[in-house]
Amino acid sequence: MTKTTLVTTLLNLIRDKQARVGVIGLGYVGLPLAVEFARAGFTVTGFDVDPSKVAEINAGRSYIPDVPQAELAEAVQAGRLRATTDMARLADMDVADICVPTPLRKTKDPDLSYVVQALEGVAAALKPGQLVILESTTYPGTTDEVALPMLEAGGLKADRDFFLAFSPERVDPGNPTYLTRNIPKIVGGFGPPSTEAATALYAQIVSTVVPVTSTRVAEMVKLLENTFRAVNIGLVNELAQMCHRLDIDVWEVIEAAKTKPFGFMPFYPGPGLGGHCIPIDPFYLSWKARQNGFECRFIELAGQVNASMPDYVVERVADALNNARKSINGSRIHLFGVAYKKDVSDIRESPALDILELLARRGAVLSYTDPFVSRLKRAEGAIEAISTAEALTSAPDCIVICTNHSAFSWDAVVKSGVPVVDTRNALSGFTAPNIVRLSGRVVAADPAVV
Ligand SMILES: NC(=O)c1ccc[n+]([C@@H]2O[C@H](COP(=O)([O-])OP(=O)(O)OC[C@H]3O[C@@H](n4cnc5c(N)ncnc54)[C@H](O)[C@@H]3O)[C@@H](O)[C@H]2O)c1
Repeated sequence: MTKTTLVTTLLNLIRDKQARVGVIGLGYVGLPLAVEFARAGFTVTGFDVDPSKVAEINAGRSYIPDVPQAELAEAVQAGRLRATTDMARLADMDVADICVPTPLRKTKDPDLSYVVQALEGVAAALKPGQLVILESTTYPGTTDEVALPMLEAGGLKADRDFFLAFSPERVDPGNPTYLTRNIPKIVGGFGPPSTEAATALYAQIVSTVVPVTSTRVAEMVKLLENTFRAVNIGLVNELAQMCHRLDIDVWEVIEAAKTKPFGFMPFYPGPGLGGHCIPIDPFYLSWKARQNGFECRFIELAGQVNASMPDYVVERVADALNNARKSINGSRIHLFGVAYKKDVSDIRESPALDILELLARRGAVLSYTDPFVSRLKRAEGAIEAISTAEALTSAPDCIVICTNHSAFSWDAVVKSGVPVVDTRNALSGFTAPNIVRLSGRVVAADPAVV
């Protein structure tokens, strides 16, 4: 079949919703995407190496908070969504959409092993007319330099025999306003036929598709977005530490600055970066830049400042305890929220975990409350979450607010009189002597009674 015929056939399949869509990697990104394709009327097969996730999906149960149980169950019951661990079934697909993890190695180098493993499965099953899309966040050049040679090794050629594109996922877990369907989707194909096919596919499920001229541009767009956040959060985290020295409340400064209707966008300080994206993705870019003899100074500097925040929070805890003539060693310290951000269960890279370990190393006795995380595994033994009421009854020496989940109610916490280190400005509406903000008025310690 000619190139024109192959792409036309694929476009027709997509427009008639007859294209069989395979989504590889059914986590925070892949599962919402698979359900969205199924909702739009496509027959979707989810592929994952984790048999427990496959079993949950086939039983119609959602394990991702952003994927409503009813939507998943309906798609499974209607026969539009099923899951499998059998990668050989990729041969039955018209589309293979890869959404597997892209973590960093301990050395902060990209770990593409999951992408490579997924591509091996796709390459083994590749057939003429298929569209392969990489969604995992990665450095510019991955699609052309890693995916393309693996897929072409069997003799088929991109844009002639099969189609290849990169389309970064922009999902924001826990955000009730922006979901897969109303977040514009960037698409960069290997060449025009690939871009056309991938654009047509996403246009079936997403309100706006933004085609760009290459896979590299699409890869770079995602890294610009996440680097922009990492650098601005780094700036505001440094400002928080600076404001503390200057006895200024950084939150008040940001609230006032954001009244400027142009040229300013608010970013907020906190206990440090968390999640699978912002702490990791910029290092994919700096690694690639370094391979080409370029040092990304902003990324490295923001990384250092953001990574220093858990230590800074521990200093604030030490200050709070010091004012009560106590030390961290032996104090009972209670954390509110251990997930990396509000209203999600994800604890990957969560700064609360660093704060917990730093405090534990200094001899604190720790407990926590988090409605989304019932148990924390640690090398020294797991900790089970306790309720707010249990936490306050136990009269801890200090409280640290690490994550401001909507379910938390702060009245009783503030009224307890226990020093509260608030890393999220959760207590902005409260004035009480026991509140220790991330930056602001330094309370002088009473002289020790000898
Ligand atoms: N989580 C987010 O908010 C977010 C947002 C935008 C982009 N991303 C990017 O999307 C990608 C996926 O992230 P995620 O949060 O969904 O990860 P995740 O860990 O939640 O899910 C990944 C899934 O892939 C599966 N998997 C691993 N190797 C596989 C293989 N070889 N074949 C099939 N399945 C395999 C895992 O079992 C897991 O279920 C990453 O590149 C991430 O950076 C994530």
